[in-house]
Amino acid sequence: MKKIIIPLLITLLLIISCRSGKSITGSERIIWDSQTPLEEVVAQMTLSEKIGQMTQAERSDIYISDISKYALGSILSGGGSVPSNNTQNGWTKMIGDFTEESLNTRAGIPVIYGIDAVHGHNNVLNAVITPHNIALGAIAAGDMEKGVQAAYNAAQITAQEMKATGIFWTFAPVLGIAEDVRWGRTYECYSEDVNIVTALGTSTVKGLQEGGVAACIKHYIGEGQTVNGRNQGNAVLDRNNIERLLIPYRAAIDAGAMSLMASFSSVNNIKMHEHKELLTDILKGELGFQGMILSDWAAIEQLSGRTYKAQIANAINAGIDMVMATNGREKWTGFIRNLHQLVEEGTVPMSRIDDAVIRILRFKQSAGILNMRSLRNLHGSSETHNALTEQTDTIGSNKNRQTARSIVSDSLVLLRNENNVVANLSSYKNILVTGQGADNIGMQCGGWTITWQGNLGPITKGTTILEGIREAVNGRANVSYNAQGKARGNFDAVIAVIGENPYAETQGDRSNDINIRHADADMLKDAYSYGCPVIVIMLSGRPMTIGDEYKNWDAFIAAWLPGTEGGGIADVLFGNRNFTGRTPYTWRKTINGDVLYPLGFGLTGK
Ligand code: GLC
Repeated sequence: MKKIIIPLLITLLLIISCRSGKSITGSERIIWDSQTPLEEVVAQMTLSEKIGQMTQAERSDIYISDISKYALGSILSGGGSVPSNNTQNGWTKMIGDFTEESLNTRAGIPVIYGIDAVHGHNNVLNAVITPHNIALGAIAAGDMEKGVQAAYNAAQITAQEMKATGIFWTFAPVLGIAEDVRWGRTYECYSEDVNIVTALGTSTVKGLQEGGVAACIKHYIGEGQTVNGRNQGNAVLDRNNIERLLIPYRAAIDAGAMSLMASFSSVNNIKMHEHKELLTDILKGELGFQGMILSDWAAIEQLSGRTYKAQIANAINAGIDMVMATNGREKWTGFIRNLHQLVEEGTVPMSRIDDAVIRILRFKQSAGILNMRSLRNLHGSSETHNALTEQTDTIGSNKNRQTARSIVSDSLVLLRNENNVVANLSSYKNILVTGQGADNIGMQCGGWTITWQGNLGPITKGTTILEGIREAVNGRANVSYNAQGKARGNFDAVIAVIGENPYAETQGDRSNDINIRHADADMLKDAYSYGCPVIVIMLSGRPMTIGDEYKNWDAFIAAWLPGTEGGGIADVLFGNRNFTGRTPYTWRKTINGDVLYPLGFGLTGK
């Protein structure tokens, strides 16, 4: 008899659990769909599930099972953190697995993957690397509408190549207004001009989100106003200053941005990550921001609390909703453990937790991530992610390269053109190209390219300036190359490429002048020795302090950090295009010295 009753009971349990959605592991599944008010979902979540959603861990700090065990809200790639197979399939496989794991939870809230795709999908090998924001600002400084369109087109390239790898959230754009070029993040900003930053930041948000990926506007607020331009330093601001800095944020939020990253920096000696007035009273209160605030990389460990637990309390109570708890597994597990205790002891009220979680779910809903639940039901678990990614070959397409190349051409700024020498370039028969930067994809791209800091050399697929010149000249003239500027023969002109080595964030900070590199200075001496016109092209993340050196140059072109499509430079030098870019930053001879070229300066050159 027993042999019949027990199996019957188990079958009966299975039928009941399937009908009611209750898993027989004892914990009830939350039953919800796209029509369920998010508040109802939050109301059914446990404290552990809520805190899990508030946790963002770096991909190298987790096991895949952690995602379901802790109901993690987000996983990220830090700069250069890539799957062993850094290809479209490698990425979609990794993120598809992460997504599946997150759906196998009681609440079934899909995890969202975030990455710094800040000038194209820049962690991915052979992706199209578009010009950094400073170059987009140069287009806008010459023609605002053209700059707005360029920012939109660049964002669309980024979105398309991100989706092809299954990623739907980028930590971009930067809305900082850089006011001291000693700051290592100057090139991540569009300009020193608030109108350019507002127009291009908004356009980038639209380009990304209309392209199907969510933006994350950053770094709120005052990052470009720190004393001496020190990264993560202190900005002394009154309410009028803050109102000016809020302008791009108001516009980007109106354009639909639903996630925002707080700045490492401080305002009036209060760290932004614990600045309740700016994060909650102003941003969430006065501006009515309905999205979620993400912390920056382990930034809460810089806060005033004497312990990690106290720092967590300060950050969450100030208004941080999701914490980028990086620098090791113990950081994100410690975040979860400590926040649990803080809520249980009443230091962090449950109302703050619920507010954070509803914002996170609202953001995931706006990003389309919650759709993965229904897609999973439609396509079955193995197909969830593929159904959402564009499996066509859109990494590094020729179409995207051509669009990026045109943006490069439009971003060039002609600062000096003695005797209209650039107009004569196409008539020359013997050209010497010099400088390490003339044949160096890594130097063209700058930081945040393949790795966090970037690297010199052939780091990914692209066209160097030299390759572009040879294509453009197409045998009509002899083009010689010597990186050090040493070559035999007589030349009609020398094209000398100088610039900065790649860097990102604090590694790019300078305490004083941003001088020409020694190797470039030595090369220039040789370039001058041929007695023919010298056309200097600068690859840099900011105006470099060149003193009076420019007086030796017959032409001087700022090319900023153009990315992989360096051929766009030759298209202007040897084509029939005018120089339409203008400098988006005031250019001084020395730091705080005389102005050499004012904001908005540039020549047309034809
Ligand atoms: C970095 C940067 C931030 C970036 C984040 C994740 O430290 O400050 O811009 O989005 O960490 O890589």
